[in-house]
Amino acid sequence: MTPPILHVVGARPNFMKAAPVLAASAALGLPQLLVHTGQHYDRAMSAVFFEDLGLQAPDINLGVGSGSQAEQTAAVLLAFDRVLDGRATSLVVVYGDVNSTVAAALSASKRNVPIAHVEAGLRSFDDSMPEEINRRVTDLLSSYHFVTAPEGLVNLEAVGITGPGVHFVGNPMIDSLVNNEARLDRDGARATLGLPDTYAVATIHRPANVDDAAAAARIVAMLTALAAIITVVLPLHPRGRASLARQGLQSTDRLRIIEPLGYVEFLSLVRGARLVVTDSGGLQEETTYLRIPCLTIRPNTERPVTVTLGTNRLTTPEDVPEQAARILTGWSAPATMPPLWDGHAGERIARVLAQIVGSPHAAITT
Ligand code: UD1
Repeated sequence: MTPPILHVVGARPNFMKAAPVLAASAALGLPQLLVHTGQHYDRAMSAVFFEDLGLQAPDINLGVGSGSQAEQTAAVLLAFDRVLDGRATSLVVVYGDVNSTVAAALSASKRNVPIAHVEAGLRSFDDSMPEEINRRVTDLLSSYHFVTAPEGLVNLEAVGITGPGVHFVGNPMIDSLVNNEARLDRDGARATLGLPDTYAVATIHRPANVDDAAAAARIVAMLTALAAIITVVLPLHPRGRASLARQGLQSTDRLRIIEPLGYVEFLSLVRGARLVVTDSGGLQEETTYLRIPCLTIRPNTERPVTVTLGTNRLTTPEDVPEQAARILTGWSAPATMPPLWDGHAGERIARVLAQIVGSPHAAITT
C-alpha cells in the first residue's frame, strides 16, 4: 500500500493554498494526512479558515506557537522530525514561504523523504524578508516544484532547478477564491460594519513595516492621511498591534480598527472595497483576481505578475494618499488574468502527486 502524503500547513496564508490540493487529492483517492504545525493558533488566524475553506481537521497538530524566527523554525524542525520518525511517508508537501514551510522541508530532507513545494519559484530578491530565505531554501530542498506564475519558472532555472520535477500548475490560492466567490457578500460585510458605500481596506503586518518605531510611525501617518480621504477598515494582525498603538494608532469613525476576519468575511469586505492598501503577499493576488486596485507598501514583490498583468502597484507610505486619490478619481481594471488562474490548480497538482506516489490515477498528465 502507498504510504500517505503528508501535507504541512502552519500559518494563515497556507490554508487557502492547501485546501484545493487536499480536496483534489482526496477526489483521486490519494492517501494523505494533514499536519498543522500550530504556527498560527488563534481561532481568527486558523480554525475559522478551516471552517470557511472546508478544510479537513488536522490529523496531527504540532502546537509550536509563536517565537523568534529561530525558535519557531527550530520548534517545527524538531516536532515534524518526530512525526516522520518511523512513519512511512511517500512525500511531504509544503506550501508557500512561512517558517513552517522551510522547517518541515528541512526535517523531511534530513529523513530523505521527497518534498513537493507548492508556490515554488517566487522571489522578491530581498533577503531582509524571512519569507525570501524560506522560499530559497525550500526550493533547493524540494524534488518537485509547483509553480504558480511564469516568473517562477525563470527564477528556478536561474538556480539550476529545471526538468521533469518542475510543473507550472497555476495558483491554488485562486482556486479557493473561485470556489468561494459566490459566498462573498459585499453588502452584508458593509452592513455588518456600518460602512459607507465607498471605503478602503488596509492590512499591515510585515516586520519591516511594523516592528520598529520609525517604520510604524510612517504607517500610522499614512493611515491617518488615507482616512482623511476615504473611510478605512483595518483588520489588524496581532503582530504590530502594540507598536502601531505606541505610535498613536487609534480607531476612529474614519479609521475602523477591527479584529482579524475569517476568509469569507474578509474577502467579502475586499470585494466591496474601492481600493486596498496592504503589505500582504496573498492579497496582491486576490485583489488582482477580484480586480480591486491594490497599493502595496513594499519596495519589491515576489508576485510581479500582479503588477504587470494585475491591479497592483508598489508604493511607499508617503505616496499612498496621492495614489489613493488618483484611484478614486478614475481607474480602469486590467482585462487580462495571469495564466492558469482558473480555479483548477489544485486538480493539476493532485494529478502530479498521483504520478509521484504511483497511484493508479497517475496516467493523467498536467
Ligand atoms: C507569518 C508569516 C508571514 C505571513 C503571516 C500571515 C513567517 C516568517 N511569516 O507572519 O509570511 O504573511 O504569517 O499572517 O512565517 N500571533 C498571535 N496569534 C496567532 C499567531 C501569531 O497572536 O495565532 C502573534 C504572536 O504575537 C506572534 C506574532 O503574531 O509572535 C507573529 O506571528 P508569526 O507566526 O511569528 O509571524 P507572522 O507575523 O504572523
